[in-house]
Amino acid sequence: MAKARVAVLISGRGSNMAALIYAAKANDCPFEIVLVASNNPDAAGLKLTQAEGIATFAQSHKGMKRAAFDDIIDAEVRRAGANYIALAGYMRLLSPEFVATWQGRMLNIHPSLLPEYKGLDTHERALADGVSISGCSVHLVTTALDDGPVLGQTKVAIISGDTPDTLADRILIAEHQLYARVLSTYVAREQQPDWILAKLDALARALPETEQRPSHGSPGWRTGGEKSGKYFAYFAQHHHGEASMALLVKTSGAEEQTMLIEQDEALYYLPQYYGASGWIGIRLDLGPNDWDHLAEWLRKSWMAVAPAKLRQRVNIADEF
Ligand code: GRF
Repeated sequence: MAKARVAVLISGRGSNMAALIYAAKANDCPFEIVLVASNNPDAAGLKLTQAEGIATFAQSHKGMKRAAFDDIIDAEVRRAGANYIALAGYMRLLSPEFVATWQGRMLNIHPSLLPEYKGLDTHERALADGVSISGCSVHLVTTALDDGPVLGQTKVAIISGDTPDTLADRILIAEHQLYARVLSTYVAREQQPDWILAKLDALARALPETEQRPSHGSPGWRTGGEKSGKYFAYFAQHHHGEASMALLVKTSGAEEQTMLIEQDEALYYLPQYYGASGWIGIRLDLGPNDWDHLAEWLRKSWMAVAPAKLRQRVNIADEF
């Protein structure tokens, strides 16, 4: 199965980045590091990355507007074909546009038990407060600093006599283990049938007058009302011993089916039974799925079965 492609952004030492690079070497790791980018051309982590044969990009942000610099990083990350970003000691506030583009796909690691001690000088503040436990958190990045949903944490006990440095060193050990583990679980969730079905359901139901209803044991989506409604998509799981997960949608017929399979025979296949009436199977079990492409197929398939009155509504909406 294809692995999730991760770009790591760093500003300095890059020890968390190194931990991710080494974790990704395990055969069963569900992600690979495809790029390390930095706003600091002297970041120590860049050398290590190059030695490992991984692409790097470095450019100073100095003298640039925040959004303009983020556009450059965004372009590099896309060029590397990454579908996730892992911030690892990236000392830049991000523009809201960049955060919005990568929403749900950008993670950060922070050396405290969030929501405690956001921002800088976390260890100083924890020690000054006299807490007995600190730790680290991996969270999704949102526009507010260190504030997104927490995906995982490790607690680290404070030892009497700890200084900010000794505490930071010990928490770093925990960070190196936590980041790879949380990132693995997070990217792997997109391969889970429940997650994929929920995502398809949201996309299908965004189309007018669509409901989900089981058909021969498989979830399906139909439109056009109770009596004359028709199915335009099915979620097939271990369907007649075929692909372990697939979306079945309607094509215009045999010619299009043949063309699609010729175009990409790994992705498309002729589903048993449904194939004869013009349906095509799109595999959902090959690795990270292209959700824009799947949304387009749902829409096209919906258009093929929806009554004219409803179709008009979509066409009109498209013109705006
Ligand atoms: C780590 O403590 C991380 O939690 C914080 O910045 C530090 C980066 O260290 N966001 P490194 O560059 O990964 O060694």
